[in-house]
Amino acid sequence: MRYISLFIICLLITIFHSCSSPQVRSRESFNEDWLFCKGETGQEHQCKFNDADWRKLSLPHDWAIEGPFDESNDARTGGLPVYGTAWYRKHFIVDKAEQGNCITIEFDGVMNNAEVYLNGNKVGERPFGYIGFEVDLTPHIKFGEENILSVRVNPEELSARWYPGAGIYRNTWLEIKHPVHIAHWGTYITTPVVDGEEAIVLIETTIENCQMQKGDFALETFLVDTLGNKVAYAKSMVLFKEGKKTTVEQTLSVKKPILWDLSNPYLYKAQFQLMKDGECIDNYNNSFGIRTIAFKKDKGFLLNGKQVRFKGVCLHHDLGPLGAAVNYRATERQLEIMKEIGVNAIRTAHNPPSPEQLELCDKMGVLVQVEAFDEWKLAKVENGYNKHWDEWHERDLRDMIKRDRNHPSVVMWSIGNEIKEQRKKNGGKLAKHLVDICHDEDPTRPVTAGLSQYPQCISNGLADAVDVVGLNYKPTQYTNILQYNPDYIVYGSETSSVVSSRGVYHLPNEAYEKHESLQVTSYDIVSPPWAYPPDFETYAQETMSNSLGEFVWTGFDYLGEPTPYNGKDNMTHGKWTGDWPSRSSYFGIVDLCGFPKDRYYYYQSIWTEKPMVHILPHWNWEGSPHKTIPVYCYTNCDEAELFLNGKSLGKKVMGEDKTTIPADFVWWKKPETTWDSPYRLNWNVAYEPGELKVVAYINGKAVAEKTIVTAGKPYQIRLLPDREVISADGYDLSFVTVRIEDENGNLCSLADNMVKFDVEGPASIAAVGNGNAATTEPFQADYRKAFNGLCMLVIKSESGQRGVIKIKATSEGLNSVITVVVVK
Ligand code: GAL
Repeated sequence: MRYISLFIICLLITIFHSCSSPQVRSRESFNEDWLFCKGETGQEHQCKFNDADWRKLSLPHDWAIEGPFDESNDARTGGLPVYGTAWYRKHFIVDKAEQGNCITIEFDGVMNNAEVYLNGNKVGERPFGYIGFEVDLTPHIKFGEENILSVRVNPEELSARWYPGAGIYRNTWLEIKHPVHIAHWGTYITTPVVDGEEAIVLIETTIENCQMQKGDFALETFLVDTLGNKVAYAKSMVLFKEGKKTTVEQTLSVKKPILWDLSNPYLYKAQFQLMKDGECIDNYNNSFGIRTIAFKKDKGFLLNGKQVRFKGVCLHHDLGPLGAAVNYRATERQLEIMKEIGVNAIRTAHNPPSPEQLELCDKMGVLVQVEAFDEWKLAKVENGYNKHWDEWHERDLRDMIKRDRNHPSVVMWSIGNEIKEQRKKNGGKLAKHLVDICHDEDPTRPVTAGLSQYPQCISNGLADAVDVVGLNYKPTQYTNILQYNPDYIVYGSETSSVVSSRGVYHLPNEAYEKHESLQVTSYDIVSPPWAYPPDFETYAQETMSNSLGEFVWTGFDYLGEPTPYNGKDNMTHGKWTGDWPSRSSYFGIVDLCGFPKDRYYYYQSIWTEKPMVHILPHWNWEGSPHKTIPVYCYTNCDEAELFLNGKSLGKKVMGEDKTTIPADFVWWKKPETTWDSPYRLNWNVAYEPGELKVVAYINGKAVAEKTIVTAGKPYQIRLLPDREVISADGYDLSFVTVRIEDENGNLCSLADNMVKFDVEGPASIAAVGNGNAATTEPFQADYRKAFNGLCMLVIKSESGQRGVIKIKATSEGLNSVITVVVVK
């Protein structure tokens, strides 16, 4: 079997190279045919090590998401088996004809403490799990023979505050290039002058000459528009004066440029050809956008000269039930869901994102703040990044910027989130050192940090060191801070942190306290002591004309950090004890599956203009001791009217309640079942089953409505794939929403039926989930209980296998259902 796969790899590499000039760069996915084993003997890097019984798998791979959940695992990181040592090995051949070329592997990210060996020799290492790195295999590669690449991965106990994932969880690439080539992350494209008539595009390209070859070298650069038209060209001589590297600067002009904007994220491509004695020896492509950004004290953030407010969300890197293993479609879907609520910006909390996320933000017109660190030298967790700080921080930070600085979507670099040095004397000095590194690598973007320790972060000079001051959870302090620091440009780097469980409504509403169900009411009013209901931030943002906007904590629920169910005393002898089985966050605007919570509609009402209206809770209160039900309404219209079984309960005008938010307001000490805010309407409704309908008006005209009904008994299942045609690339996904409905097709909003899935055809089950933060049901299974009427099945195509996938869902006592998805 081994030899067959070696033969196929060899054939593929040979075929690829026979199609192109042998000296021109090839970049191929290196994700297939890996072997994996947990634990270690210490010999795994040796060529002769017997890996015959290791598990075969493809990357990206996150071993922890496979489970099982266990209370003895760190509940703070999701209760999954993240920690420990594991090895990956891959046998591969590089054609003899490549002799003389450079062979490198790029890892987009390995979680974490990666050590890389080729044929028994250590060739690379990287402790930080979120940064990509390149490993040069050339010195130890055997051409035309079997090579063995071994990767040791070793996430340590107590090294994360949330679910990090475990393993080679991002993509890997094999590159074969001429010994004289464009260096790794070797291009830097900026647009210093942009006006309607012309854009000046400045490109710095670093070229590496590994063997100090002699010859006449030249760099030819073409700028190409989306139709493939060449719009600019430059040719420059490349001189290697001393050393192996040199940087070439080119200035190109694009006439009548089409700007990269949120509504039209237009991308150009820079195509580079490196010539030696008139022959092309390396080629490389880089997409980029032409746009201007500015951060102004009086006008906030300007994109192409126009003020744009960050309607932002913080996102952790995991993809819910799919874990940390990067997946293009799952990442795209996350952004699609966020865009539906009007999100125009994300903060990559609290680490460098996957390359795919930035590629998608470029394409989809989403602004990004790329964040480097959650801790510096002072520890938040015992074995966190602090252990690697001294040796690695500068390299990691520089690499992050080199990797990401050509993305038009990236508008800020963040040097850290709530780092402990905020309260230390040396905080300002350390921040200055990091800001200088950022400016050195990229003077075109401002540097920021998410600061929470006010006023200490100001008195120690940290806030002064950054260009733009990010404030976490300070909506009541902006005015004050700006009054005493009039030069600051501030924004909400982390806001709200409301906790809620989709579809859960407790009456009377709890304050910030634990509930025996391990769920949190979804009236969007409960937040931890340091945080606020969203209305506070909305109010603060609206009253600051120069505001940059906010980044809500968080867009999606994420694995780990199950606040408020963190256990009685969070830490016992260094071990995190949670309120098991609560194992994922409640902070999301949408749940772990991407199903909207009520807050989805709150933000939609604040951030979008297409008329919408939403009411909560559900309308199935029969048998409840509560006879009066608080009904909340979110709308971007002027007014809304509520009807119960056809009878009007009155119209209410949005914003009429001008309740301003007092600076000393302490929400968690003030539990109430209703709350007046300029951003939500509410009625107290005497419950009677039937139909509750809301109609929203603009200028007296009905423009949006929503109806919720008292659903009958669970009767049937409905399957709703997000895409009915997917690609046979072995990565593509269809996310199938599973609804439990009554006989009339109404969602049974309290249903928790167990659903069993049968998938036939060229696909496998990638994951199941239901958005319940407090369950240990596995994510990799062919069954799932509904949670408040919904669960989800995610299916994945198989590489090269086309056809029809038949998905059958059954549940005891319910009508089963079949749906199909086509793989093309
Ligand atoms: C912040 C922190 C985030 C998250 C959040 C929860 O203080 O920066 O990472 O923990 O609290 O509210």
